Amino acid sequence: MTPPELDPELGPVVGLPMAVPAAAAEGLPARVRIHEVGPRDGLQNEKSTVPTATKAEFIHRLAAAGLTTIEATSFVHPKWVPQLADAERLFPLVRDLGTPSGTAALPVLVPNDRGLDRALALGATRIAVFASATESFAKANLNRTVDEALAMFEPVVARAKAQDAHVRGYLSMCFGDPWEGPVPVPQVVRVCRALLDMGCDELSLGDTIGVATPGHVRALLTALNAEGVPTAALGVHFHDTYGQALANTLAALQHGVTTVDASAGGLGGCPYAKSATGNLATEDLVWMLTGLGIDTGVDLGLLTATSVWMAGQLGRPSPSRTVRALSHKE
Ligand code: HMG
Ligand code: MG
Repeated sequence: MTPPELDPELGPVVGLPMAVPAAAAEGLPARVRIHEVGPRDGLQNEKSTVPTATKAEFIHRLAAAGLTTIEATSFVHPKWVPQLADAERLFPLVRDLGTPSGTAALPVLVPNDRGLDRALALGATRIAVFASATESFAKANLNRTVDEALAMFEPVVARAKAQDAHVRGYLSMCFGDPWEGPVPVPQVVRVCRALLDMGCDELSLGDTIGVATPGHVRALLTALNAEGVPTAALGVHFHDTYGQALANTLAALQHGVTTVDASAGGLGGCPYAKSATGNLATEDLVWMLTGLGIDTGVDLGLLTATSVWMAGQLGRPSPSRTVRALSHKE
């Protein structure tokens, strides 16, 4: 099948073929904060390394489209993720967005003290550590056991908090793991508790390989609440491998979650989890939320135009259904 033509001139979308209710239905939040991960989770998985200036333009365009939290890059070992080895050159090009007069917070991933030093030296004020619920992924992604990784994060979180930085704690493999299969809920709850107890301000529950289903999402959120983890501290991070990311998101919204991770154009994956395909596409998420009457502050036309432009830079069409539908030329 020939991919749809990509329209680089796509402007703000008007007259969407969608009924938009005046307010969110009962039981759903009025507003959702989208944590955009395209520049980090998306680009870390590209075969070719995107030029630094292109990454900076991507981030600026995402901010102009109304995204207020944009994960910019990672201060990890450059040999582990060469696609993001330009973090020192990229961050200063976008840093102004994250200052009080800017429009978007710019979290960055840091795994250890060395990563935190690098991030703080450039003025980062929001960081994210990234733990695993399973031993296999902890080893593959961090070269540590689960508990060794937690021990590595502890001083990082303490130092970041002492500098008034906001700290997000990712937890990968919350539902299934390519080596270990389905992940028991109590195993996930234990690591979540540990991340919160060390001082993380929020957690992001990662379905790294996209195997979650809405029932599993509800079960995990309920179990976390039962262990004293408030829903307000939780975000969700779905990959769309089995086409469940939107259904899982709806289940999380119905539970009261108001922070949802997504990646513009559905870019993404994880270099250390081969079965991870693209993240939930931000456009698909905005389409659903708009139709539910939930405010996101995002201009879907500008965002789609950004993903169409990025698809041009990467030389292949976006996998997002919404990007394809909105940019299709007859
Ligand atoms: P290691 O090999 O065990 O490192 O890797 P080490 O602590 O033994 O240090 C070895 C050398 O690396 C030392 O240099 C360190 O200074 C240097 P030497 O003394 O030999 O010259 N080093 C660093 N250099 C620069 N920046 C650093 C750094 N750290 C050490 N930060 C390490 C351990 C954690 C560093 C490595 O495993 C790593 O970088 N892993 C990152 C993997 C990654 O980024 N994965 C993708 C993000 S996670 C994800 O995508 C999932 C998520 O989206 C949620 C979901 O979907 O589930 C978040
Ligand atoms: Mg991810």
